[in-house]
Amino acid sequence: MNWRHPRLIAHRCGGALAPENTLAGLRKAAELGYRAVEFDVMLSADGTPVLIHDETLERTTDGRGRVDETSDAELARLDAGSRHGAQFAGEPVPSFGDAAELCQALGLWANVEIKPSAGHETETGRRVALETRELWSGQPPPLLSSFSLEALAAAREAAPELPRGLLVEAPPADWLGLLRRLDCISLHCRGYGVSPQLLGEARAAGVPLLAYTVNDPEEAGLLLHAGVAAVFTDRLDLIPPDFE
Ligand code: G3P
Ligand code: MG
Repeated sequence: MNWRHPRLIAHRCGGALAPENTLAGLRKAAELGYRAVEFDVMLSADGTPVLIHDETLERTTDGRGRVDETSDAELARLDAGSRHGAQFAGEPVPSFGDAAELCQALGLWANVEIKPSAGHETETGRRVALETRELWSGQPPPLLSSFSLEALAAAREAAPELPRGLLVEAPPADWLGLLRRLDCISLHCRGYGVSPQLLGEARAAGVPLLAYTVNDPEEAGLLLHAGVAAVFTDRLDLIPPDFE
C-alpha cells in the first residue's frame, strides 16, 4: 500500500477525550501514543488560520457569531475548553501556527483539513497552503485535505509541492477523475462509503483510501484489514494506537 503514515489518526486533535481542535487535544493524542492527528483550519476576520470546525463560535466556545467576522484579538479572548469540561477551562482557540509548532514538538504527523467558511474557499486554500509551507519548512509536510474543490485548487496553485487529499462524504462515480484533476494523492470518505468496489478501484489506482469518523473498534478493524490505509477516530480510548 502506498501509505507511509500511521494508520490511526486522532480526529479533531484528541477525538472525544479533549475539546476538539485544541492544543489540549494534541497533547492528549500524543500522551496516548497516537502519532497522527487531523484538525480543521478556518480563517478569522483578519485572515489568520485558526483551528475550528464550525463557521460559528457557539458550539465549541463561549463566543458568539461567525468565525469570519471575529478578529484575532476577539478570538484570543475565547474559551474553547469549557464546553467540553471544566478541567479544560481557558483552553484557547489555537492559531494554525501554534498547532503546527506543537505537532512538531510532540512528533505528530498531521492531516490539515482546510475548512473554508462560505465565500472564503480560494482565500482559505491559498493561505493555509502558504502557511503550511512556512510552518513545516525543511520537515516532512502534513497532508492537506478539503471538501472544497475550490480550496484544493487554490492550495495547489499556491504550494503545489504539498500533498493533498480529496475529502468527500460518499465518493462520486468519477472520484478518480476528480482526484487526478486536482492532483490529489489520497481519497478520504465516510466509513460507510467504503465498499468492496471502491476498495478495488483505489487499490488498482494506487490511491490510499482514508475513512472517517470510525468510532467502533470492530468497524475500524474491518476497514483496516480490508485495505483502508487509515481511519480517523474520536475514540482514542477504545482504539489504541497499536490497534490493528
Ligand atoms: O477530515 C475528516 C473529517 O474531519 C471530515 O469531517 O466534519 O469532522 O471535519 P469533519
Ligand atoms: Mg475535519
